[in-house]
Amino acid sequence: MAGTNKKLTAAVEAYFTELGRLHASGGATGERSSYGPLHGLLNAVGAALKPKVHCVQEPADQGVGHPDFALYAARQVQKGRTREGQLPECGVVEVKSLEDDAWLTAEGNQVTRYWSRYRLVLVTNGRDFVLVGDNAAGLPTKLEPFRLAKCADDFRRKIEKPRAFARDVGSCFGEYLVRALSHRAALAEPKDLAWLLASYARDGLARVEAAGDAPSLKSVRDALAEALGVRFEGDKGERFFHSTLVQTLFYGVFSAWVLWARQTPPPAGRFEWRTAVWHLRAPVLRALFQQLSDPGRLQPLGLVEVLDWTATALDRVDRAAFFARFAEGEAVPYFYEPFLEAFDPALRKQLGVWYTPTEVVRYMVARVDRTLKDDLAIPEGLAAENVYVLDPCCGTGAYLAEVLRRIAVNLEGQRLGALAGARVKQAATKRVFGFEIMPAPFVVAHLQVGLTMQELDAPLADDNTERAGVFLTNALTGWEPTDNEKQVVAFPEMAAERERANRVKRDRPILVILGNPPYNGHPGVAVDEERELSEAYRTTKRVRRPEGRGLNDLYVRFFRMAERRIAEKTGQGVVCFISNYSWLDGLSFTGIRERYI
Ligand SMILES: C[S@@+](CC[C@H](N)C(=O)[O-])C[C@H]1O[C@@H](n2cnc3c(N)ncnc32)[C@H](O)[C@@H]1O
Repeated sequence: MAGTNKKLTAAVEAYFTELGRLHASGGATGERSSYGPLHGLLNAVGAALKPKVHCVQEPADQGVGHPDFALYAARQVQKGRTREGQLPECGVVEVKSLEDDAWLTAEGNQVTRYWSRYRLVLVTNGRDFVLVGDNAAGLPTKLEPFRLAKCADDFRRKIEKPRAFARDVGSCFGEYLVRALSHRAALAEPKDLAWLLASYARDGLARVEAAGDAPSLKSVRDALAEALGVRFEGDKGERFFHSTLVQTLFYGVFSAWVLWARQTPPPAGRFEWRTAVWHLRAPVLRALFQQLSDPGRLQPLGLVEVLDWTATALDRVDRAAFFARFAEGEAVPYFYEPFLEAFDPALRKQLGVWYTPTEVVRYMVARVDRTLKDDLAIPEGLAAENVYVLDPCCGTGAYLAEVLRRIAVNLEGQRLGALAGARVKQAATKRVFGFEIMPAPFVVAHLQVGLTMQELDAPLADDNTERAGVFLTNALTGWEPTDNEKQVVAFPEMAAERERANRVKRDRPILVILGNPPYNGHPGVAVDEERELSEAYRTTKRVRRPEGRGLNDLYVRFFRMAERRIAEKTGQGVVCFISNYSWLDGLSFTGIRERYI
């Protein structure tokens, strides 16, 4: 659906323009006057879908009366005509006049009659849209509504400026119609599900943005900033916070669904996100979800209803086909990238959320293992109990999972029997660490380590007494204690998370740092401590002074963090990063080269 939003907004603007013209001419009479503009809008939205959906005006009576429009899937239409007698696969539409109440109409006899035949009815008065479908008991229920204006007069006022109105609501409204028209379509393609989830997440984001400076949001923001060791500065920082919060909730529900789907073979039951999210292993996330249903906290934002719609959409997924697209255990980590691309492509770029190909991860971990054995004389390599490992930007945990697998392989030759499992578990909980700044991949990294431990026959206990060493934190700050470390009061779970991460940064003798750090600017969240990291590379003794702005690149800060930890603290060790190669010959990097060589 990439690139469709412009088309959707244009279609919505055309709808408003046509309706506005009708109203201005005084020729608008009851519901029939909006048929033309609505027909045009639904066909424009249907044309943007793959496969397309066709909207047919005044379809034949199929035994329950005449709905105003019928929505046919592309394969039901040949040479512009539908075959007689076939039911419209994508439902029907009932249109009322602008003054009517679409919610009441949705409950009335006429719509219930249509529903009994077509099972999906989109009811509208032109400004309110209500989708009526089935609930778990097979009874009619209102699925998703969309409101363009609070009353008819308000709507008439707004369509006087169709372009401005479409700029405000076009994308959200267009996406709502896409979801309504494709409600019946099978969901199996990861990219389609990524779009759908992202579409709900964008709806959630619009609600969060509309809440502005609500005190409940401010307390979550302050707690997150404290716990992560970042500041959400200016508009960019605010945007980053909103996006982080929303994607955490929506991706959290998706991750919980994957776990649930693994344990609940179809067709048993419906997916209940409220219970499923408690199985996610991260206390920080549970705290966030708790805030959602608390009337004094995030509940007024109205996110719960959008998460309900998301869960209903997940119930529609053809699980066999969807999971067939991923190797076992890979659905959650590998889905994050397309999801973030569909939800917030700019943030994806800024944070460098590109996942590392498995082959590269495997090679790097094997290479580190060999270096430990050959150059540092540690015969057990990564399996040695005194080898502390950190991926400081672990994303969804690919390196951590591979390190644990490599440890298991190294232990295989030692004939340890059941003890081998205990040794891998000890590694996962006590000496293999991951840091991640974004809550959504952080949750996934926990899942991925959990699944890897199951695969290695050493599952972590379900009662949260055993926790993987993955922490939600800014890897670039908190390495040294400071005088003004505030307490995160609003969220004890976040304070605890920061404490644990700080203990790793300050006390563990880390010997290996590996991973794939981001290489780009940071979206308005850096603090001074982080910016100062590149200072060491700005001065030189014997070579030319650095030129240009290359040292501002984020990867340089990760290099310096690793150098400080390994060269200046542990005294020996291995750093294995994928990086931009500019430091090898760029004019900005004379200082780095002087220090390293
Ligand atoms: C290129 S991705 C690497 C992902 C991971 N190695 C993998 O392949 O699954 C970089 C990751 O670093 C995270 N990140 C960016 N800045 C960070 C920071 N200051 N502290 C911790 N993580 C950070 C991003 O959110 C992103 O998930």
